[in-house]
This record gives sequence, C-alpha cells and structure tokens, in this order.
Amino acid sequence: MAIASTGYQSGFGNEFASEALAGTLPDGRNSPQRVAHGLYAEQLSGTAFTAPRHSNRRSWLYRIRPAAIHGPFALLDHAAFHNDFGSGPVTPDQLRWNPLPMPEAAADFVDGLVTMAGNGSPASQSGIGIHLYAANRDMHGRFFYDADGELLVVPQQGRLHIETELGVLDVAPQEIAVIPRGVRFRVALPDGSARGYVCENFGAFLRIPDLGPIGSNGLANPRDFLTPNAAFEDVEGDFELVAKFQGHLWRAAIGHSPLDVVGWHGNHVPCKYDLRLFNTIGSISYDHPDPSIFLVLTSPTDTPGVGNLDFAIFPPRILAAQDTFRPPWFHRNIASEFMGLVHGEYDAKAEGFAPGGCSLHNCMTGHGPDASTFDKASNADTSKPDYIVDTMAFMFETRNVIRPTRQALDAGHRQHDYQACWTGLRKHFRG
Ligand SMILES: [Fe+2]
Repeated sequence: MAIASTGYQSGFGNEFASEALAGTLPDGRNSPQRVAHGLYAEQLSGTAFTAPRHSNRRSWLYRIRPAAIHGPFALLDHAAFHNDFGSGPVTPDQLRWNPLPMPEAAADFVDGLVTMAGNGSPASQSGIGIHLYAANRDMHGRFFYDADGELLVVPQQGRLHIETELGVLDVAPQEIAVIPRGVRFRVALPDGSARGYVCENFGAFLRIPDLGPIGSNGLANPRDFLTPNAAFEDVEGDFELVAKFQGHLWRAAIGHSPLDVVGWHGNHVPCKYDLRLFNTIGSISYDHPDPSIFLVLTSPTDTPGVGNLDFAIFPPRILAAQDTFRPPWFHRNIASEFMGLVHGEYDAKAEGFAPGGCSLHNCMTGHGPDASTFDKASNADTSKPDYIVDTMAFMFETRNVIRPTRQALDAGHRQHDYQACWTGLRKHFRG
C-alpha cells in the first residue's frame, strides 16, 4: 500500500495549489457551504493568525474526513526519541560520534529515531532537537505528526518515500526534506533501510535567507525547492496515529488513513531540496567568508541576524583564495555547532569523521582542522585552486548551547578519543 508521487511544484514559500481530483478546490471561498466531491474543508495554521503577511503560513485542506476523527491518545513509551536535554552540567568538551548502527530488530522511521542533543523546548517554541534515525522497515498502518516543531530531514543512506497529507516527497541522500509542524505523514524505505539526521525546529519556520549584497541570485535558489502535488488514499482499517506532543510520543487508534487530502492550497507545505543545486559562493581574492555564506535555510529569532537554527552545508567547491589558510580556521564561536556528513570526506578533518557520523562543538569550545589537515594546508601551493569534490557536510548551528543527551554521551558509537585529533599540532613558535 503506497501512494505514488504525482510530481512537484517549484518555489519556496509560495501560495501553492494542487488538486488530485479535478474541481476539488473551491472558487473564491476557502470554506464553502458544501465542498466539491463531498469533502470537508480544514485549515492548518503554521503561524499566528496575525503574523505579518510575509511570514504568515497556513494551508487549506479539502479532505475525506477531518483530522479530528481518531481515538483517544495514550502515552507511547519511546526511550530514545524525546526532548529531555537535561538541566544539569553540560560538558564543554568537543564531542564526536561514529555513524549510528543499523537496528537489529525491526524499526520503522519513528522507531528508529534517537535523540542526540538539543536546546530550548517545544513549550517555549524556541530551540531545536537533534536526532539520528536508522530504520529497516516501512511504517505499516502507522502515521506520524510532530506538533512540537517542523522536521528538517537529512538522509545520509537510503532513500525515503515520504507520504504526507499534502503529497509525496521522494528524497535521496544529498537531498533534504522539510515537513511542517503538524503535517501527518508515513515513511517507506525503497532501499529497505535508511539512515540520516533530523533536526526538529521548535522555533520560527525555516526559510531561505535574505541575500544582502550577494544580490538576487545565489545560495539556495527558490525555484529549486519542490513542494508535492496533491495525492491521497481512501483507505479504512485499524491504524495508529502517533503524535509527538510536548516532548513525548502519543498513540491513538484511527480507522482510516489520514492521507486523505484530495486538494489543498496554501503555503504551510512540505518541500524538498537537492543540496547539489546550492550555488556556492566564496572568496576569489584572499581569506574566506564566515560559514554563513553556506546558509541554506534559517529559522530566525526575535533578534535580527541571530538564528534559532541555521542550516549550512559544505558542498563541493573550488578554493581559490591565495596566500590563505584554506580549510576552516581554528575558531571559537558564540554559536553552537552540530555537524554531520552525508557524503564523502569533510575537508577540515583527515580521518575519523565518517559519512553518517556527527560532531558537537559548543559555545566557545575551541576546534578546527586536525594536525594533518593543518600541515597540508600550511604547505599548500595557493597559486593553484583546490577542487573540493565528493563531499557534502552540513551544520545545524544555534544561538543556544546544544545539550547532548545522556544516551548520546553513553552511546557505544561515541568517539572517546576525539580530542586526540588536535594533540599532533606541534609548537612552531620561534621567539
Ligand atoms: Fe566550527
């Protein structure tokens, strides 16, 4: 049982419209007295009703049954997927992990989520949750929605077939998906298993950043974001609706598939984006810009220029800056950084950072290239460009300290010797 993709519409934040059955969308009124085809009208709001027009998100759904129809929710124990980031001391150490092992037992996308770190809370509508997933079976008779935040999904291994209320996203590694807060979905694994990263954004919805002096083109271009066309199923059975609400999972019986939206219009919509289409910009004289030049999406805060979540990538690119140390320099930031690697190698680390792995460098924690990368870059001939190929690293960066969970600190895939990558940096000082 699967819903096939019916294609996509191009753009970001647009007022999209799509109907899987001709004549579904009303003409003129969002909630007509009688909706075509005997459907119900339902509004899904992603922002405050009175949010300014440029940041107001809502969609109208025309569906077989309203979302209100399901049984009572009961708490669903899920030890690994939560928003318990602790309140005690948090280590300022640099932290790194190997890839999350694939599960030995059967685990679908929701079962396979493991919370690594986070900050803030769903209750405050501020902060993020950072999760990994490793799954080996489709979601059968099971649907999920996250009331706590939108989901930024970064597949690393295996494709995801994500059937949402608004249509189908087929997403492969080196692509990302964004599923808005509240949207119900089901995930199938066309390759049999899948692994990747999920950032749960409790704050303002992700958007493509303003470009300032870069101009009207560059970075992630709006036309490369794809929102699905409407697709639905009309299926009844003994199903389960899983909700994430205030940091916990809840389950309710539901007698039909909630993927029953026949047509919709609005801008509170899922989308996908191919990271390989990112228009990478960098220095063509000397030095290199801050990593904000690699910003794909940002969730702003009330403070201008300060992100609740900044999603940046380090894609293939040409390093041309002369007389310059070309890898990311040694640094300490007020922002906190969680990094992952989707594909290939990351140019600031010679080894130890495998695809599927991750690292955490918190506020004011020193980090940067390892010893062998430093030596190589210090002696490189910068009259010639470096072609960085076969790579796709990314960063979830936030204004607040990212607190690793107990299970992440105790995990078998944690690299307890990570700090050793800098011990080879010798003293070169000649006073
Ligand atoms: Fe950094």
